[in-house]
Amino acid sequence: MSGFRPVGIVGEVSRPTEVMVNALTPIPSGTYIYVKFKARDPQGLEEFEREVVGIIGSCLYKSLVPVVTAPTISMYGSTYGGTPPLSNLKIESYMTALIIADITGGQVEAPRYPPPPETPVYLAEHKHLSTIYGYKPTSDVEVGSLVGFDKLRVGINVNSLAKHLLITGTTGSGKSNLIAVLADRIARGGGSVVIFDVHGEYRSLESESPNDVDVKPYEAAINPIEMPVNSLVKFIIPEEQASRQRRLLRNALRELNDKIVQKAKSGRKSYELVVKELGSNMSLASDNCVDTYRELLKNYLKKDKAVEDVEVKIDDFFEWHNVDLNVRKVSELISSSRIIVVDVSKLTDDEKDYMLKVIAEDILWYLKMWGRGTNQPIPTLLVVEEAHIFLGERTASRSKEILQRFIREGRKFGGMLAIVSQRPRALDVNVVSQVQNYAFLKLVQRTDRSTVMELTDILSDEYANILPTLPPGHAILMGEWVGEYPAYVRVDRHSGKKVGTTPDITKIWRECKEKYRESVSKALEKKSMISEWEG
Ligand SMILES: Nc1ncnc2c1ncn2[C@@H]1O[C@H](COP(=O)(O)OP(=O)(O)O)[C@@H](O)[C@H]1O
Ligand SMILES: [Mg+2]
Repeated sequence: MSGFRPVGIVGEVSRPTEVMVNALTPIPSGTYIYVKFKARDPQGLEEFEREVVGIIGSCLYKSLVPVVTAPTISMYGSTYGGTPPLSNLKIESYMTALIIADITGGQVEAPRYPPPPETPVYLAEHKHLSTIYGYKPTSDVEVGSLVGFDKLRVGINVNSLAKHLLITGTTGSGKSNLIAVLADRIARGGGSVVIFDVHGEYRSLESESPNDVDVKPYEAAINPIEMPVNSLVKFIIPEEQASRQRRLLRNALRELNDKIVQKAKSGRKSYELVVKELGSNMSLASDNCVDTYRELLKNYLKKDKAVEDVEVKIDDFFEWHNVDLNVRKVSELISSSRIIVVDVSKLTDDEKDYMLKVIAEDILWYLKMWGRGTNQPIPTLLVVEEAHIFLGERTASRSKEILQRFIREGRKFGGMLAIVSQRPRALDVNVVSQVQNYAFLKLVQRTDRSTVMELTDILSDEYANILPTLPPGHAILMGEWVGEYPAYVRVDRHSGKKVGTTPDITKIWRECKEKYRESVSKALEKKSMISEWEG
């Protein structure tokens, strides 16, 4: 510490966990500070030294004397850079700092003594912070470095993810990058991750360690034979008021599916084979058994004047959806060192919701085989992007109930849930309050910040004040997964996640323009050659 100048002093009000700091120049939000002071026992007999580490929350400038200068036109003159008169001490800045921990004598404990006013405040150094963040158990996965301390790598404890995870931040704040980093490094350690990929942005994810990690795309498909008939009817005929059409389709689906299932069971045949046989009996068979199924379904529609409309909707649905009579379950693909990317980007929100229900149910069922067979299930992290669609406060989604069960029961069976959302205010409090690990990235909206404070009850005002200022990739990690003390972290940039990153639009346009110019000039050249030749 010697040789370093203080950056400020403890101000008027000081508590064990929150102190005011006064300085000439503002200390920016998110800066780690160090304070060493003398504390006394309550009887005032004994004096002893304490050292604490904190982080600056809010900061502001304030003029010590009233600003009397009337603004004049010349102040708005042509040049920038009117420097405030720092030298004549008429301004001061005020900060609030959150004291993170007491690190006296290299022991980390909760702060209990307030530093006295006017104690010098220093910038924290590597050695102070490594006391808190330097400990690395073997179950840790590194996600980044402490902000301002590149060499202080921050790890998260993967075992703690049994208490699930909430990642929240505005669009572009770095949520998906954090997911890519987490998923990849968990898989590198032998873990299993399933990403419910709402935007199709992980499709082309390349692992940082391709020799150790297998990224497996899984195209979500609808199995019309196994899906509940009522749901399927709603997907094919979304219009609520088309009750007649829906009834027709529902009856046809019931009749056809019952027949297929029954024949498959009694003859121990696959659905595909049964459909093929049924199709050739009615001379409807084609090479593709989904097409055959579609024709069979249309054939099962009863005579009615709405039939034509229903047929059109069936055709539309089958054309635009990935339908498969023999869908492999996600759980069949779960494996150590593997990231399964479930691409649902082509589905409507309603269909995504259904898929999520199917997949979460399947994974939970798989995990619950724990201890029942010789093949032990592999603990799996399920990541749900855009979670507010499925876990909204007001919406009664199909997947919500199963996700709640996943949170409740998953813990016992190695099921971990990561909820990712840019709209925390839209999330169901009952669900999210059961999550106990957090990554907060940039959040601007006041309602979002107050919601996360409510949800988590460990995010204090001061941390919440830092959130609007966070650059992309900066996150405040809290909860058991980072240990007792929150960490302000610069998350590593994942090198293999290319889709979903913000495109350089003008660069793409420029390149397109170049190409267009080239093709035009080539065409012109050709034309002139032809006309020369013809001439
Ligand atoms: N840890 C990081 N380090 C550097 N840049 C980052 C980091 N995280 C995100 N970014 C930048 O921010 C952009 C958006 O990140 P992304 O993870 O897609 O945000 P979100 O999922 O929150 O919308 C990325 O394209 C990248 O340029
Ligand atoms: Mg994203």
